[in-house]
Amino acid sequence: MRCDKNGNVKRKSKGMKHSSSTRILSPLAFLILAVLACQFMPTQTPASETPPTKVPATESVSPTKEPTNEPAEETADPSAGSSGLGDSRYPEFGNGGYDAQTYTLDITVNDVTSSDLTATTTIEATAAQALSRFNLDFAGFEITSLTVNDEAAEFERKGQELTVIPSQPLENGEKFIVSISYEGIPDAMQSQALPFPTGWIVYENGIFVLSEPDGSASFYPVNDHPLDKALYTIIVTVPKPYEVAANGILEETTDNGQSVTYHFKVRDPMASYLTTINVTDFDQETMESDGGVPIRNYYAASLPDNIRKPFARQGEMIDYFSEIFGPYPFEVYGALVMDTEFGAALENQTMSIFGVDMVDANDIEGTESVVAHELTHQWFGDSISVADWGDIWLNEGFATYGEALWVEYDYGEAGLKQWVEDIYNEVKSYPDFYPPPGAPAANNLFNGGVYLRGGLTLQALRSNVGDEAFFEILHTYYDRYKYGNATTEDFIAVAEDISGTDLGNFFDAWLYDEQLPPIPELNLQ
Ligand code: TRP
Ligand code: ZN
Repeated sequence: MRCDKNGNVKRKSKGMKHSSSTRILSPLAFLILAVLACQFMPTQTPASETPPTKVPATESVSPTKEPTNEPAEETADPSAGSSGLGDSRYPEFGNGGYDAQTYTLDITVNDVTSSDLTATTTIEATAAQALSRFNLDFAGFEITSLTVNDEAAEFERKGQELTVIPSQPLENGEKFIVSISYEGIPDAMQSQALPFPTGWIVYENGIFVLSEPDGSASFYPVNDHPLDKALYTIIVTVPKPYEVAANGILEETTDNGQSVTYHFKVRDPMASYLTTINVTDFDQETMESDGGVPIRNYYAASLPDNIRKPFARQGEMIDYFSEIFGPYPFEVYGALVMDTEFGAALENQTMSIFGVDMVDANDIEGTESVVAHELTHQWFGDSISVADWGDIWLNEGFATYGEALWVEYDYGEAGLKQWVEDIYNEVKSYPDFYPPPGAPAANNLFNGGVYLRGGLTLQALRSNVGDEAFFEILHTYYDRYKYGNATTEDFIAVAEDISGTDLGNFFDAWLYDEQLPPIPELNLQ
């Protein structure tokens, strides 16, 4: 815990604001960090008191040889899918042995304030080995039925690991359907990655979801690692007069008398942690970017009208970023502002969520930094997702640099220069708070270094290789890895390809050295 540091950052950001001649850097931009480093979430307690205990990955059981009348293929005997994907920071996140293609979440919220749910999640997947059993990540609830290919299957639960034992083993390459019905009240989740509640969160006026990196298992059974992206259908039924905002396109709403059912469709691959379902009374605002990207913003209805102001230029941002990164990846975009403070914003796919304390109608520029940050994540984070959580700077450093690019859009070279100097001095002054971005600790994944020093790494690269090569690197990297996953090595390889230079030492210094490297071209050291 670094609560002491939180105070520091907040004070520092104010100091920076005064020391800066332009109002480019606002405390809000720093809030993202401040809050993540140490935050005080209002204690929303979705019912259960004890957070699920993380247990060591379940042991693979020795394959039970099933008699089969199939002609013996040259395939291995069925064995257990692994209970984790071997992530460098969180080896037990996700599961091996299969690949999920689609999720259909069908969730009825019987009561919003208690969040009593009745739900069925159906997953279409393909076996990547002959499987005697496989795991999903899932916490809490009572499972009332579980089938594989419409036949009842046995299951075991241990902490967040749900082990499914199909009545017959699955063949390598076989497509199968798992359907899990469950009911109850979501468990409160405490991620090991950051010190505040994640997952499905109930607050006084409704529900919202914050799942990065591992909160999704608090409301649906899932292969919970960004390596296994899938398409989603999200069907949520809520009692009137509540409304639902979720990822993707709202295809249909059905009036059931006392309740309403919302059908959302996500037609581009999505990492599980970006799944979002939010429930309260919303006001909607729709517009379109000049380039034709539809925008629908959701504001909790109790918020004042001026809350919308800092979001007015999202269309302009989308078009600008589409020019410098590559076309906006998804069918729709929008912001969602909840009427509660949670000291953070999160880039849920097609629908970034903002705590009301991240939006200051009297500091439009400061808030626009956060808006630009979350929007940049749609390319870097959502469309290209990390293959390993240890590479989180590929998300946060890029999104932070997106803030700089937006400042540059408005204020030109001088604005960018000021931004870079301010951030450089900040990082240099508080090195403990901004560790090298390439090797974050598992218990402090979203540290200050992955944001600010990660962002500076991109500026240093730009200064080193020049604007033309830099923007070609961004484009090429995006084009090569969009809708998929990338590693730090993948990015470095693109940068070396395009620039035609060996950048090994450069990236080693920026990503892994304790010492903050200089940016000689800008006279920063
Ligand atoms: N990715 C978020 C950002 O834009 C930060 C974040 C990570 C977060 N995990 C979270 C925010 C959980 C809210 C809740 O910087
Ligand atoms: Zn971010």
